[in-house]
Amino acid sequence: MITGGAGFIGSHLVRRMVLRHPEYRIINFDALTYAGNLANLDDVCCRPNYVFVRGDICDMAVVRDTFDRYDIDGVIHLAAESHVDRSIDDPLIFARTNVMGTLTLLEVARRKWAGGSSGCRFHHVSTDEVFGALPAAGGAFDELTRYDPHSPYSASKASSDHFVRAFGDTYGMDTVVTNCTNNYGPYQFPEKLIPLFVNNIRHRRPLPVYGNGENVRDWLFVEDHVQALDKVFHEGRSGESYAIGGRCEVRNIDMVRMLVRLTDAMLGRPAGESESLIRFVTDRAGHDLRYAMDCSKIERELGWKPQTDIEQGLARTVKWYLDNTEWLDDVTSGRYAEYYEKMYGNR
Ligand code: NAD
Ligand code: TYD
Repeated sequence: MITGGAGFIGSHLVRRMVLRHPEYRIINFDALTYAGNLANLDDVCCRPNYVFVRGDICDMAVVRDTFDRYDIDGVIHLAAESHVDRSIDDPLIFARTNVMGTLTLLEVARRKWAGGSSGCRFHHVSTDEVFGALPAAGGAFDELTRYDPHSPYSASKASSDHFVRAFGDTYGMDTVVTNCTNNYGPYQFPEKLIPLFVNNIRHRRPLPVYGNGENVRDWLFVEDHVQALDKVFHEGRSGESYAIGGRCEVRNIDMVRMLVRLTDAMLGRPAGESESLIRFVTDRAGHDLRYAMDCSKIERELGWKPQTDIEQGLARTVKWYLDNTEWLDDVTSGRYAEYYEKMYGNR
């Protein structure tokens, strides 16, 4: 069972697992919130080893029924509320989905696997944001970094990480946790920096850079992340956590300039024309200054490394959004339009 398989990272993971592991039946369990979109999986939805179940991870009866019906023997859990700005607006839904939803899944898995759990694994997909913020220069997070979340989003993810470990320690459940840095690539909802800005450049809308643009993120191409998830699910040591990152630190303002350069070129506009759209706006509350991940453990133990160079990965990503404007228009219209307008329309 892959939870959140209709979202950004989840859809890439479902695609990989369905195509590369025909020996598995992949159950994509997703509530289809604003961030979930079955169109992300158009190319694999007809495969015989793929099943979609629409369900809420907080709904114990539906989760239990799905475990029973499909005899679930492994979970990779991605379903979550995932956007920091939304968590600042509405923290309660983050506690509900990310904490109670994870706990509900764990509890159903524990009961289902009790006594005969050999070979059954619960893999929880988490974020580097649980570790808080690094100073402007020097240092990186790793598996031993103290938890220090600052946003309601990262606090909810930190809590879910703790519950997963607690189920491993208390009930002997086979658990693994991965903490990954910022992902980018096709099918990311255009509320996150990269797809939001590509879409805004396309429409000649302002590009709202929070604060002074000096915040640093460590970027990983989404296909590299799902390759790491596949490795950890199959080869990671039980009870361990694995830090995953791109070894690719970029200041936000530099990322925005790269996006402007690539998008203008692909749209046939004069070089740098869209720089005039950049606006420095009020900073995000509690905005973490810098994230960076030391992913030596997964490199050493599992032989995984990020493969995609940022220039190549960003060029592929920008091209994908510009080639898929129907997808962009679809997810920013209809039932999403009102919220999207409220959050992003006036910037
Ligand atoms: P996303 O917001 O694109 O997708 C989340 C998916 O979860 C959607 O399909 C949504 O419908 C589903 N969902 C939400 N609430 C649900 C519920 N109650 N029941 C069932 N399904 C529900 O998120 P994403 O960016 O793909 O992130 C996936 C996971 O990876 C999250 O757990 C996130 O914390 C983690 N993560 C993301 C990043 C990143 O850069 N995007 C980095 C590290 C870790
Ligand atoms: P985001 O994509 O929301 O990911 P996260 O908050 O999980 O890192 O944001 C990436 C960085 O870009 C973060 O430092 C906040 C910044 N940002 C802006 O400056 N403007 C925006 O409109 C958005 C959405 C993000």
